[in-house]
Amino acid sequence: MCGIVGYTGHENAKDIIIDGLKKLEYRGYDSAGIALSDNGKITVRKKAGRISNLEEAIKGEKLEGTTGIGHTRWATHGSPTDFNAHPHTSMDGNIAIVHNGIIENYMELREELSSKHGIKFVTETDSEVIAQLISVLYKGNLEDAVFEAVKKMRGAYTFGAISASEPDKMVAYRKDTPLIAGLGKDCNFIASDMTALLKYLDKIYLIENGETVVCTPDKIQILDANKKPVDRDVLKVTWSQEDAEKGGYQHFMMKEINEQPKAIRETLQRRIGKDGKIKLDGISLTREDLEKFDKISIVACGTAYHAGLVGKYAIEKMARMPVEVDVASEFRYRDPFVDEKTLFIAISQSGETLDTLMSLREAKSKGARVLSVVNVVGSSVARESDDVFYTWAGPEIAVASTKAYTTQLVCMYLLALYMGDLRGTITEDYYKQVLKELKATPKKVQRILDKAEDIEELAKNLYNRDQIFFIGRGIDSAVAYECSLKLKEVSYINSFAIAAGELKHGTIALMEPETIVIALATQDFLMEKMYSNIEEIRARRAHVIAVTKEGSQISKIKSLEVIRIPKCMDEVSPILTIVPMQLFAYYVARERGENIDKPRNLAKSVTVE
Ligand code: F6R
Repeated sequence: MCGIVGYTGHENAKDIIIDGLKKLEYRGYDSAGIALSDNGKITVRKKAGRISNLEEAIKGEKLEGTTGIGHTRWATHGSPTDFNAHPHTSMDGNIAIVHNGIIENYMELREELSSKHGIKFVTETDSEVIAQLISVLYKGNLEDAVFEAVKKMRGAYTFGAISASEPDKMVAYRKDTPLIAGLGKDCNFIASDMTALLKYLDKIYLIENGETVVCTPDKIQILDANKKPVDRDVLKVTWSQEDAEKGGYQHFMMKEINEQPKAIRETLQRRIGKDGKIKLDGISLTREDLEKFDKISIVACGTAYHAGLVGKYAIEKMARMPVEVDVASEFRYRDPFVDEKTLFIAISQSGETLDTLMSLREAKSKGARVLSVVNVVGSSVARESDDVFYTWAGPEIAVASTKAYTTQLVCMYLLALYMGDLRGTITEDYYKQVLKELKATPKKVQRILDKAEDIEELAKNLYNRDQIFFIGRGIDSAVAYECSLKLKEVSYINSFAIAAGELKHGTIALMEPETIVIALATQDFLMEKMYSNIEEIRARRAHVIAVTKEGSQISKIKSLEVIRIPKCMDEVSPILTIVPMQLFAYYVARERGENIDKPRNLAKSVTVE
């Protein structure tokens, strides 16, 4: 949700910043802009729309400056116009800022700055107050002015600032949305996340809440809230530049769908010891610990929430502990029953989703033990958790989550099995059997990917439908929600997911000839019930396509259109079932000519509530 990049060094900053912004475009793409400091003057260029619009607008223009900041926006306050695009400058032209977050008391600050200092605001944004405020407080030292300014602001406000009076300096402050500082060669950087910088460096500092970073070409200084220097360890980045590039695929989404066998293998391999048992790196969860908990509370958003729904099935079945699953935006405000007897599990790809982070803090404040399942190493959710279980999916750039979801599922299964083993609620045979099934999933996912053209064909037949339903029973109903989200977010088809048995309690009223229903039917023990639901729909002359295992009863019905996934244990089927549906969403969106990697109105990392 908004990306910021800053550079200070000896090269022209323009191209470096624009290159970094392109890597962050998944964080928002309503507008883009840069500000460069040169010879006591700040030059700003900004444009509504994608970064390519900005590039087009400044093509051929000679923009000088070896220090600068850039921004890609996901609009909150103020419509996505050229005017409201970042960077924002102060009235005297001395300060430029880029901001990620929301200044909650911006109206109050605007009024104060106008009445007391005669500031005339030129945009509708909350962010402009940051530039104006710093400028009013500026007395020759940028970090001093930043320190004074943040005392007056409320909300989430990570920002980067430059001053025309100090051309080789860039100052950034972190509050609730992500910030890193990168160590380059004779240059230094700030950015919302490391993907912006993979081309330039492999060493970063993670900046904590309330810290200020002061960068010059030869130094990065981190200051705490009392202006005391912080001694922070350097983090070596393990992701490579290639990981964050398309590598010959037309879209990141397709690349990431195809990376799933590798990502699942990676997530699994690191957790299975030589003795064939699960070892939870980063987590110390003993039998005694588990005995202290009377329930598990899983909290997440979107796709990660859907992984949590599957996690509930797995944990309840294997570890026989009660599990609640909540969307983070609801959890926080319903005064949940959480205490020191709760194991709280946060699931998040980015580790920066504000709703999830705030829920985590709420749970922690009530005494819960916090374990997180996270993809981005060193992210806020990871840092604030008692234990972290990383999904080793590599960078996920497409807005629609794919490999993060399947690796989150793997983590949930590993946790469920591990807990079941500790609690003695599963037999050794069952433990071994599920692990064996998990280890077989990368190859099975690959088999589905190898037959992608069948799904492409299906998408070509259905891409112009207005609505598509997904149904399932048991663990399939949890997967149905993810199938539906995937389709709607990239294709804009109105898709709807419902537990198959619930259909007859209302939604079946929508079934009519030509309605398309995708029925997930992978659970052997529910096959007959599922078949009855399919027949109820077909009786209304709606068209059903079943996703089922090779050789299942349903796969043999001649009159039924079927997508087959490889045979597997019922428990682990979600890892396979979702793959053809990810492909389906992708191909439908492609047939409709949509912008697959950057669907309208969405951002990858949602750092506002
Ligand atoms: C959908 C999608 C989102 C995210 C959600 C949570 O494809 O990606 O629904 O899953 O915004 O994001 P994280 O996992 O980063 O907390």
